[in-house]
Amino acid sequence: MCGIVGYIGKEQVAPILLDGLARLEYRGYDSAGVAVYSQKKQALCVHKAKGRLQVLSDMLRGGAAVDGTVGIGHTRWATHGAPSDVNSHPQVSQSGRIAVVHNGIIENYAELKSFLMSKGVEFTSQTDTEVVAQLIDYFYQGDLLEAVGRVLHRIQGAYALGILCADAPDQLIAVRKDSPLILGYGEGCNFLASDVTAIIKYTRDVVYMEDGELAVLTREGIQCYNHLMQPIEKEISHVDWEIDAAEKGGYEHFMFKEIMEQPEAMRRCIFPRIRDGEVYLEDFGLDESYIRSMSKIYIVACGSSYHVGMVGKYNLERLTRKNVEVSLASEFRYMDPIVDDHTLVIVISQSGETLDTMAALREAKRLGARILSIVNVVGSSIARESDVVLYTWAGPEIAVATTKAYSTQMAVLDLLGLWFARVLGTVEEKEYRSVLEEMLLLPGKMETILANKDNIQYLASQYFNHDSVFFIGRNVDYALGLEGSLKLKEISYIHSEAYASGELKHGTISLIEDGTLVVALGTYSKLFEKAMSNVVEVKSRGADVLALATESHAEEMGKTADAVMTIPDTHDLLLPSLGVVPLQLFAYYVALMRGCDIDKPRNLAKSVTVE
Ligand code: M6R
Repeated sequence: MCGIVGYIGKEQVAPILLDGLARLEYRGYDSAGVAVYSQKKQALCVHKAKGRLQVLSDMLRGGAAVDGTVGIGHTRWATHGAPSDVNSHPQVSQSGRIAVVHNGIIENYAELKSFLMSKGVEFTSQTDTEVVAQLIDYFYQGDLLEAVGRVLHRIQGAYALGILCADAPDQLIAVRKDSPLILGYGEGCNFLASDVTAIIKYTRDVVYMEDGELAVLTREGIQCYNHLMQPIEKEISHVDWEIDAAEKGGYEHFMFKEIMEQPEAMRRCIFPRIRDGEVYLEDFGLDESYIRSMSKIYIVACGSSYHVGMVGKYNLERLTRKNVEVSLASEFRYMDPIVDDHTLVIVISQSGETLDTMAALREAKRLGARILSIVNVVGSSIARESDVVLYTWAGPEIAVATTKAYSTQMAVLDLLGLWFARVLGTVEEKEYRSVLEEMLLLPGKMETILANKDNIQYLASQYFNHDSVFFIGRNVDYALGLEGSLKLKEISYIHSEAYASGELKHGTISLIEDGTLVVALGTYSKLFEKAMSNVVEVKSRGADVLALATESHAEEMGKTADAVMTIPDTHDLLLPSLGVVPLQLFAYYVALMRGCDIDKPRNLAKSVTVE
């Protein structure tokens, strides 16, 4: 939700800001802006435009129209105030002296705004962020750091801030609380950004700011402070992935690139963790006595990560015979969950920054649970606050619709379940070996599915005009349907719902009529006959049925369904890892045929750092 970037150095800043914003556009894309200090004018020059970043970039001739070597930029996902030029960031104080870019929400902005208005301050936008700029200016008496410190005592909520002051143009200030912010160390220049992708072209040496920290960036260096404004030393981390990983590499969309990258991502995620026929989880901080003492497991996540958790419930319960509860993070944080120091809470998040998930993590920690997180973004907030982290190693995921993160999260959860089961003695040797062998085959089997993508493209061409779709399935196929349905609706805007097949007769079946598209998931062999019955049930009410089945059941399924997407056979526990790939491709091609903006679906953002 909103991307921010800042630079102070010797180069012209505007092209650097625009380049960084282009890489952060996945975080929000309803408007964008930059503020640059102009030496010539001895003032801040602010340029903002509603719409995609391209509008701003064209306006500024790619940055050539703006002169200056220090500045801040922002790409917005609107919360307070509709998308418009005036509500775009940077927000500037009445005097034009202070410019602020912000990711997050200032919860007490209304009260602060009234206070400032009573002092004669005039506001121009509807944003909560303008309050921060105005308040800094109100307290400013020649010492920017001091003024910012006073403001931080008064604002409540979540914020990553980049601050630039016309009276102190040789510094930038960065502040972080509950919204991600990193600092980048260059030569004769320094950066702040919402994430590494924005600045990796210029530096790989970064510092992950912690909540309550503040930093002053100059051309010569960066000084960090803790929440008491005491200077602190921070450890510099080196980013080791290449910039190509965050670029489209010849593909039309990031989503398609990321779907195609899945076999490689799965290899990176799985192969180092299976050695000599055993699961090997690196730096694993949970000892075996703790595993044995676990009373239950809670899986907490949002969106697709939650759907991974849904599959995880079936798989972990089957493997470990422990009670596994899955909860949406946004519900968990307010539901008074039954959690104690014998509860393991598994937090799943691609970004590692989702605010609801982070809040759920903190609540679980407060209640005494151990926190194990499955995260993709290295060094992210959730990773840093967890007791144990298992990274998915999927590489940067840019498309708003997650694909390779989902697959790798699932792989990590399966490995974890196998390891627990081994410790608990709840899995037979033969089954354990067979799942591990099959896990090693998953990347190759995914390649087989991807090689058949033209068939799925053809099927998409048959169904892309439907305006309502139901995904049905049982057990892991139900959990998989939740993801297939979300994928389709979030990028194609087709109304779509997922149901446990057994629930159809309890209401949903009344919605099935001539031409309703039903995507029937029938990969789980133990319940294949039941899946077939449900296909017959909806067919007889007029539905068009597009099915998903394994190779060994495809022919049988094809006798009733109108069309079948096929996946290679694998161990039952791993079916969703393969089954999700055709569903991702189907959603992608449908959205493509409907002319949708696939990587940037309306109203969405990749990283949801607001409640
Ligand atoms: O980064 P996270 O995994 O915590 O994100 C959770 C959801 O916001 C995310 O999965 C979202 O549902 C995606 N748009 C799904 O494609």
